[in-house]
Amino acid sequence: VSPTLMDRFGRNHSYLRISLTERCNLRCQYCMPEDGVKLTPNSGLLTTDEIITLAKLFVQEGVQKIRLTGGEPLIRKDVVDIIGRLEQINGLKTIAMTTNGILLNRKLPELKRAGLDQLNISLDTLVPAKFEFLTRQRGWEQVMKGIDHALQLGYSPVKVNCVVMRGFNEDEICDFVRWTEKKDLDIRFIEYMPFGGNEWNSKKMVTYLEMLETIKREWANLSRLKDGLNDTSKAYKIPGWKGQVGFITSMSEHFCGSCNRLRITADGNLKVCLFGSSEVSLRDILRSGISQEHLLEVISTAVKRKKPQHAGMFNINKMKNRPMILIGG
Ligand code: GTP
Ligand code: 5AD
Ligand code: SF4
Repeated sequence: VSPTLMDRFGRNHSYLRISLTERCNLRCQYCMPEDGVKLTPNSGLLTTDEIITLAKLFVQEGVQKIRLTGGEPLIRKDVVDIIGRLEQINGLKTIAMTTNGILLNRKLPELKRAGLDQLNISLDTLVPAKFEFLTRQRGWEQVMKGIDHALQLGYSPVKVNCVVMRGFNEDEICDFVRWTEKKDLDIRFIEYMPFGGNEWNSKKMVTYLEMLETIKREWANLSRLKDGLNDTSKAYKIPGWKGQVGFITSMSEHFCGSCNRLRITADGNLKVCLFGSSEVSLRDILRSGISQEHLLEVISTAVKRKKPQHAGMFNINKMKNRPMILIGG
C-alpha cells in the first residue's frame, strides 16, 4: 500500500469520487439553494484530460474504485468517453456512477458498453406529484424507466438512494421496502444531512432507529445482513425477498472509522471529507506544470490532515461547506 493515500488513523483511501459537472437537470430542495448556485466558469472546470490524468495518478497510488458524480454526471457530454478512458486504466477495478436517473434510459446501453460497473440512482418518492414538488421538475416516469432498464441490463443490485425527510416521504418507507420483494434493488434510506443552503434542521431528519421501527412494525422478520468493509449503509432484508434495504446513518451513527473515500470536485479541488471546508486545488497544480512529485506531496498532506470523524450534525450545520450539488455526495 502506497503511503500517499493513508491517513494518520490508518485509513487507506482506495475509493475516489469525481464530480463531472456542477450542473443538474433537477433542482432538489435538499441539494441546492432555491435560487441555484453560482457556477464555475468553464475554464475553471477540469477538462477530460485532466480528469483522466488525476484518475491515473490516484489509481497508481492505490485507488481501486472510482465513482462519477455531479451535479448530474449524465449531463456531461463526453461522459461515455470518460468511462471508456477510465476503463483502460490498469488497476482500476470498479467504475460506478450516482445519477438522478433522468437521462439514464436513453444512455444506459452505451454506458454499459463503455465499462460502467455499478449504478446508484436517486429517487426519494414513489408519488409523481411529490417528485415534482421536491425536484422542482418533472421526470418521475423517466427515472422509473431508468431503474427498470438498469435491472434489465443486469446491474445487480441497482441501488436506489432515498433521502428521508419528515413531512415529505417518511410515510413511504414501507412502500419502498415492498418494492424489494420482486426486484433486485438495494433501497438505501439516507438520513437527511446538512449542507450549504439546504435548510436542514434536526426535526426534518428521520433517524435510522426510527426508520427501522417503522419497517419492523410491518415486517417483524426484517433481518440484518453483514455489511461490506467500507459500506456507507447498514444492510437488511426481508427473508425470501429478492432485493434488500439499507440505512445510511451519517448523522445518528457515523461510519467515519472505516472511511475510504476521497473526492475531487468539478472545479478540481481535492476534498478529503464530505463535511468541512478543507480543500486543496489539484487543478491549479496541474496547470502550473509543477512536477508529479509535488502533486503527490500536496495530496498526501491533505490526506494526513483528514480528521478522524466528522464534527457531529449540530457542528456540521454551522460549518462552512459547499452545497451538495457542488460536492456530488
Ligand atoms: P457505494 O459506492 O455503492 O457504496 O455508494 P455510496 O453510498 O458510497 O455513494 P452514493 O453516491 O450512492 O451516496 C449515497 C449517500 O451516501 C449520499 O447521501 C452520500 O452523501 C452518502 N455518502 C457517500 N459517501 C459518503 C461518505 O464518505 N461519508 C458520508 N458520511 N456519507 C457518504
Ligand atoms: N442529505 C442526504 N443525502 C443527500 N443527497 C443529496 N443531498 C443530500 C442531503 N442533504 C444524496 C442524493 C444522492 C446522493 C449522492 O446524495 O440523493 O443520491
Ligand atoms: Fe469519511 Fe468524512 Fe464521510 Fe466520515 S463524514 S465517512 S470521514 S467522508
